[in-house]
Amino acid sequence: MKNFIHTIRKSTPFVILFFLGITNFSVAQHTKTVEEKKMKWFKEAKLGIFIHWGIYAVNGIDESWSFFNEYISHEDYIAQKENFSGSKYAPKVWAELIKKSGARYSVITSKHHDGFALWDTKYGNLNAVKHSAAQKDVLTPFVKALKKQKLKVGIYYSLPDWSYPDYTHFTRNKRRYAILEEPQRWEKFLTYYQGQLEELSKKYNPDLYWFDGDWEHSAEEWQAPKVRQMLLKKNPNVIINSRLKGYGDYATPEQGMPITKPKDKYWELCMTINDSWGFQKNDTNYKSIDQVIGIFTDVISNGGNLLLDIGPKADGKIPEEQVKILEELGQWTTKHKEAIFGTLAGVPHGHFYGPTTLSKDKTILYLFVKGNPGSEIVLRGLKNKINRIYVVGNGTKLKHKVVGKVYWSNYPGIKYITVPNYILDDKMTVLAVMLDGKVDLYREDGAVIESN
Ligand code: GLC
Repeated sequence: MKNFIHTIRKSTPFVILFFLGITNFSVAQHTKTVEEKKMKWFKEAKLGIFIHWGIYAVNGIDESWSFFNEYISHEDYIAQKENFSGSKYAPKVWAELIKKSGARYSVITSKHHDGFALWDTKYGNLNAVKHSAAQKDVLTPFVKALKKQKLKVGIYYSLPDWSYPDYTHFTRNKRRYAILEEPQRWEKFLTYYQGQLEELSKKYNPDLYWFDGDWEHSAEEWQAPKVRQMLLKKNPNVIINSRLKGYGDYATPEQGMPITKPKDKYWELCMTINDSWGFQKNDTNYKSIDQVIGIFTDVISNGGNLLLDIGPKADGKIPEEQVKILEELGQWTTKHKEAIFGTLAGVPHGHFYGPTTLSKDKTILYLFVKGNPGSEIVLRGLKNKINRIYVVGNGTKLKHKVVGKVYWSNYPGIKYITVPNYILDDKMTVLAVMLDGKVDLYREDGAVIESN
């Protein structure tokens, strides 16, 4: 007995440590599932539409940057508000078009770095209602229209406000003050911007916040943890992008499509439809629908979302070229929805020369085939038996054969799928390869026969 008590005594610290370990592990597990639950809709959404709309559409110049970089004076830049009419603003039509494109969410610039707010904010001196030709709130009706279409609502909000008299930066070459020298001015700015955020969260309770411009100050200066807490308190499920100085939920690469699968579990590529975020009459360098679909499939193949940006004109009309691209994108995403929405990233490059995705249970491999591949396409290193191959959105059954399989090795041979040209989609054909179980890939170096 004595011995027993002694052993227990001696091992108590280990027992405690052991249980602490278990608790730590289960806390981590719990946090992970909470995060996965929260991020679920985002992970499955695949496509979002970004909207940059502000007074910069009047002259058709770079949003905010044109005065920050001193290509135009601040005064002339701000004067654009007198012609920001919103006279053809049709939030319902916008939301319908977004829905039609296949997107599951939209993110709109409630306020860019220039400080011009689209809603009736009680903070500051620069908003669409009181300080522009539009004389109306052009954010609320759009948020309502999105919700009506059951689309998730994302609010872009620029942390910097280069027009606000108590913000540090004015232009590239002009600073108003340094925080250390005039901390009370910075406090004033913090109250202003956090007040606006509180307004936004109360008014719209968005599903997602898309911050921007965090590079100008540290997390501490922005009070990023406090802001995150404040937004989560209002809505524990709200998703925050990475640009809150490390206090966000997902990464936001910009313009450049990742070639290899990013390490981040959740990410979204934001990309302009031409070369500009906002409307610029002079920019007709639109991406072709083939290019947009090509980029989109590369993104989902790597497990990300595409946030495709459009820029309505100052009167609120979405330029025809942009409407056309979204409509064509919608036709394609609708036809191929089973290979897109709710899918997982595809198989590593090399097994198939093109983008791929996987059904959630990993038993269907979707192959995205661009153009006319000739009579057959090749699948390498797939250990599964193929039960059936069909053309998505068309249903035609396709034949395949296995070449080079040897009985003495795990090497599964090469699978050749016969692709008749009459089934080809003029933009991108999608094949569904139904497997006999979860996808199983050959990743070995090969073997040498030892007996035959
Ligand atoms: C950049 C630019 C900004 C644009 C944003 C969209 O951060 O500052 O003009 O709104 O990218 O991702």
